[in-house]
Amino acid sequence: MRIADTATMVCPVTGQALRWQGTNLELLLAEGNLESADGAQRWPVVDGLPRMVREGELRGTDRLSRHIHDRLPRAHRPVLRLGLPVLQGGGSEAALRRALIEGLRLGELAGGDPRPRLLEVGIGEGTNLPALRAALPEGLGAELWGVDLSEVLLKRCRERWRHQPFAEHSRLLVADAHRLPFPGGCFDRVFHMGGLGRFDDPARVLAELARVTRPGGLVVVVGKRLDRREAPAPAVQAAFRLLTVHEPEVDLEALPVPAGTVVEQAGQVSRFFAMLSLRREVEA
Ligand SMILES: C[S@@+](CC[C@H](N)C(=O)[O-])C[C@H]1O[C@@H](n2cnc3c(N)ncnc32)[C@H](O)[C@@H]1O
Repeated sequence: MRIADTATMVCPVTGQALRWQGTNLELLLAEGNLESADGAQRWPVVDGLPRMVREGELRGTDRLSRHIHDRLPRAHRPVLRLGLPVLQGGGSEAALRRALIEGLRLGELAGGDPRPRLLEVGIGEGTNLPALRAALPEGLGAELWGVDLSEVLLKRCRERWRHQPFAEHSRLLVADAHRLPFPGGCFDRVFHMGGLGRFDDPARVLAELARVTRPGGLVVVVGKRLDRREAPAPAVQAAFRLLTVHEPEVDLEALPVPAGTVVEQAGQVSRFFAMLSLRREVEA
């Protein structure tokens, strides 16, 4: 992350601007602290990654989720790559992700701000990044921001894509989806894929995603949900239960719609996933 990027962030406790105090690698953050404007809150930056959460403040399932993702990162990717096509009834994981990313309607960004900002909450190892980059209209220097509770996964994400041109436009930080370190309305697209049921309070997370979305922008949430309309085979039901054992299913349509947003799309989008997309209203 560049020092200039910290101007897009705020202290997640006070909402104040942040001051950088530390050592740089040219224009990049290296080691130090991001301090709230009143000096009362300090957020360490270690090995270039800002840590915008405090361990003691993490709630029940968030703490568990972090432990799972920190301890089992090697298992996560192969399980998805092999398990998803089986559950989906064909196709590849990459093709599924490309289809889900269409829900972000990135084509709409053409002709607008030449540097739109996208935020993936719970970015994990960044498996969506290549498909996101490919779906962006030509010529846009979009900033791809990613937050996650798992520092281990973020480091793997950074390492994994280090040599890709889009890495230059990526900004990663440790942060909690319930309390994002960004001011209101600063992203053109805000999305989360795959783990909503593990968040401690999915309704609060949805409201937080809406808060940081700019007027006219989209919030897109994709949740694991088995399509039961065509009575899935018992083996598919059992596999679904196994893969989501730590994750209660969230009824996306039943979540309170955050103030100032309208529902654009809600429902099953594949055998294994449901999508909710909200448009942030433009004030008159
Ligand atoms: C199922 S994974 C999905 C990863 C990625 N979005 C993908 O599509 O491959 C869910 C991610 O959410 C992260 N996560 C869980 N609770 C979180 C929270 N409260 N705030 C931010 N990230 C969280 C996990 O660490 C994990 O990386």
